[in-house]
Amino acid sequence: MTHLDTHAVHLGREDLTALGVHVPPIDLSTTYPLDSLAAGGTSYENLATGHRPGPGDSHVYQRLWNPNVDRLERSVAALERCDGAVAFASGMAALSAVLIASVAAGRPHVVGVRPLYGGTDHVLASGILSTRVDWARPDRIAEAVRPDTGLVVVETPANPTVDLVDIAAVVAQAGGVPVLVDNTFATPVLQQPAHQGAGLVMHSATKFFGGHGDVMGGVVAADEEWVTRLRQVRAVTGGVLHPLAAYELHRGLQTLPLRVRAQQETAATLAGRLAEHPQVARVLYPGLKECDPAGLVGTQMAGPGSLLAFELRGGYDAAAAVAQGCGLITHAVSLGGVDTLVQHPAGLTHRPVAAEARPDDALLRLSVGLEDVEDLWADLEAALG
Ligand SMILES: Cc1ncc(COP(=O)(O)O)c(C=O)c1O
Repeated sequence: MTHLDTHAVHLGREDLTALGVHVPPIDLSTTYPLDSLAAGGTSYENLATGHRPGPGDSHVYQRLWNPNVDRLERSVAALERCDGAVAFASGMAALSAVLIASVAAGRPHVVGVRPLYGGTDHVLASGILSTRVDWARPDRIAEAVRPDTGLVVVETPANPTVDLVDIAAVVAQAGGVPVLVDNTFATPVLQQPAHQGAGLVMHSATKFFGGHGDVMGGVVAADEEWVTRLRQVRAVTGGVLHPLAAYELHRGLQTLPLRVRAQQETAATLAGRLAEHPQVARVLYPGLKECDPAGLVGTQMAGPGSLLAFELRGGYDAAAAVAQGCGLITHAVSLGGVDTLVQHPAGLTHRPVAAEARPDDALLRLSVGLEDVEDLWADLEAALG
């Protein structure tokens, strides 16, 4: 099995035939019977320090281990070409665990490359987890790195302007400091940041992995050392993913490649049409030449994805009118699902971001789903009209 589409369908299911079942059994146990106190204690110690259970070991307690979560993690790790992965209750819980681990290792300084998702910007700017951030342009990271820098945080494509960042160039500038790439927008179908040297690859699994707007989760893929630390943070702080959510996310991965490619095709058509529309001042989409001056689509990324943003000539009022005027397209935050969503980042997802870094008031973000392209265009045209 070498192709991503085949992996997406079969990973984390290798033992099912031997178990005599066709889909993964769901284990909802919060606690597990123990053979003996001594054996239970050894298992507890092993899991609470972030290690996998050995053969025959008890899982002890759901906060320490769950088989459905493990299946999802093994799948994501293989899709992202990393040693392992650790799943959390949300994308923000996943990022928080990385920040907590960094602070605990005595490296509280973070170099952040804006734009980032509003929640990510907020957790870094607020310093609520005892990190200290310096913002840097992608080509000025080396100057911002200090002896206590534990992380460089980038998103590519970035939320909400779909700016692209050259991951290999960032890794080179970081000079050994781990680079965390939020790969939520691209998914491993379009981009595997570990190939470019990223040490940590993060996802809001709430988005494309689930794909249907009905489950929250977050995952970090990394090397074995990071994975062990992150499992330990998860065991201590408790931001665990529920087994039912893990089951849904694992199932979502099976159709991820198909969904991502189909959504991308429609997004490319809509981006082209929006760029011609008289009410639209500017379209931001990695598939448009002017948005990808470094030629990262086709090299770092296999395709431009299904997120785009556009600025209205009429500013905030026009943007609000379009978002509220859509009918088939839902006016709602979030992204990556089978249905198309539109939202106003400055007023919603990026509301906590400092004024100087907040997205333009005229900007809307569109997450393109699986509907027919002509129906979507008719809805957008009517709302723009
Ligand atoms: C790029 C990106 N990263 C992280 C997050 C946070 O994920 P969650 O909402 O699952 O906590 C989001 C949420 O919108 C996001 O868009």
